[in-house]
Order: sequence, then structure tokens, then C-alpha cells
Amino acid sequence: MTRLLFVKASPRDAASRSVAVAQSYLDALRAAQPELEVDTIDLWEENLPQFDGNRANAKLAIITGQTHSDTQKTVWDEIVAIAARFTSADRYLFAVPMWNGGIPYRLKQYIDIIHQPGLTFGLDPQTGYFGLLKNKRATLVYTSGAFSVEAPAPAFGVDHHSTCMKDWLAQAGVTDVEEIRYQPTLLSVDPEGDFARAKQVAAARATAFG
Ligand SMILES: Cc1cc2nc3c(=O)[nH]c(=O)nc-3n(C[C@H](O)[C@H](O)[C@H](O)COP(=O)(O)O)c2cc1C
Repeated sequence: MTRLLFVKASPRDAASRSVAVAQSYLDALRAAQPELEVDTIDLWEENLPQFDGNRANAKLAIITGQTHSDTQKTVWDEIVAIAARFTSADRYLFAVPMWNGGIPYRLKQYIDIIHQPGLTFGLDPQTGYFGLLKNKRATLVYTSGAFSVEAPAPAFGVDHHSTCMKDWLAQAGVTDVEEIRYQPTLLSVDPEGDFARAKQVAAARATAFG
């Protein structure tokens, strides 16, 4: 059975455009694949630990081949449990608004927690990073108020949010990625029409990407 993890990075709940477009995608996918198992993480409701000094030191201890202290072991066990929920999924659906050119900080915090040596990546001194996740697929739904691929940069913003997501996923080994852009959500002469079309496009993409 395929397990999909739906990660919501907008705190705006029912008002969120990225979540609504991603939900249209998910509804269409579920209709086509009724056996799909869906796990949803609302990053603004989820109890995410601070990635503090103990956790950063625990990560670097692994990279440098050192043994964890008792404190580091405790925090690392928690990280492993949070990451397992991510790594055990077969596919991912992310709803990602652009915030100040990048991704919302709760999503960055989540990535900082789950992207770990031995869990999602390895690091070879000669050849660099390599991903540990295999045979995964990801769908990334992006929204932004002013930025769009067509709008002049940097006047309307620069896209660090899609590059951040794709580069991170690639480093973890997830390269089968599709992107759905609903941009701009605010600077539009027909926001509601654009919104309706974005949901239709997302539903069609769910059927096509399979
Ligand atoms: C804190 C914050 C920062 C934002 N930064 C940008 C930005 O840099 N560029 C942009 O085009 N839109 C920006 N926006 C607008 C959002 O990307 C836009 O409203 C988007 O539709 C929000 O997605 P959501 O409806 O899923 O929450 C920002 C919105 C917020 C709340």
C-alpha cells in the first residue's frame, strides 16, 4: 500500500491557498487510488523540538564518528522517531507558501530536524553528499503573493523557496519531483478565477503524475 505524507507549511488553515490547491491534488489522487494511505502533518500544530545546541552537537558527532553523550542520545532518539515518520512514506505532498523569498520557518525547522546523516543522507569526503531515500516521489505546491516565474526579478522577488525544497529533496535522494505553481496569488486581476484554475490544474496533475 502506498503511503503519502501531506506536509502543510502554511499556518493559515482554511484560508491557505497552497493547502487548498494541494488538497485538490490529494482528492483527485485518492479518487484514482482509493487504497492510498494518507498521513498529514500540519507543521504549525505539530510539536517540533527546537534544533538546539544538544541536537546540533549530536548531529555533528555522527558526522565526525564520535559517540553520543547520554543527553545527545536522548535527543537523537527523538529526532530518529520524527524522521521515521517522514522516511517511511512512499510519496510526499508539500503545501509551501513563499515567505520572504524562502520557505516558512516551521518547514525549515522540520527539515533541520529530519534531514540527518544516516537517516536521509550520507557524506563522502571524496564525492560529497548522497541521498539515502530510494524510490520516493514528491509533489510540491508553491504559492506566492507577488512572485511568479514570469514577473521581473528582483523587483517581484527571487525564488529561494522552490530551489530550497528541490535541492534538499535531491540531497536526500528524492529526485522524482513535480512542481505545481499557483503564483501570484495576490497580484492578480482575477484572484478567484486563478484560484479555481489552480485547483483544476492540480487535480489534473494528480491523475497524470499517478
Ligand atoms: C510572512 C509572509 C511573507 C511573505 N513573503 C512573500 C514573498 O517574499 N514573496 C511573495 O511573493 N509573497 C509573499 N507572501 C505572500 C504569500 O506567499 C501568499 O499570500 C501565499 O498565497 C500564501 O500561501 P497560503 O495561502 O498557503 O498561506 C508572504 C506572506 C507572508 C504571510
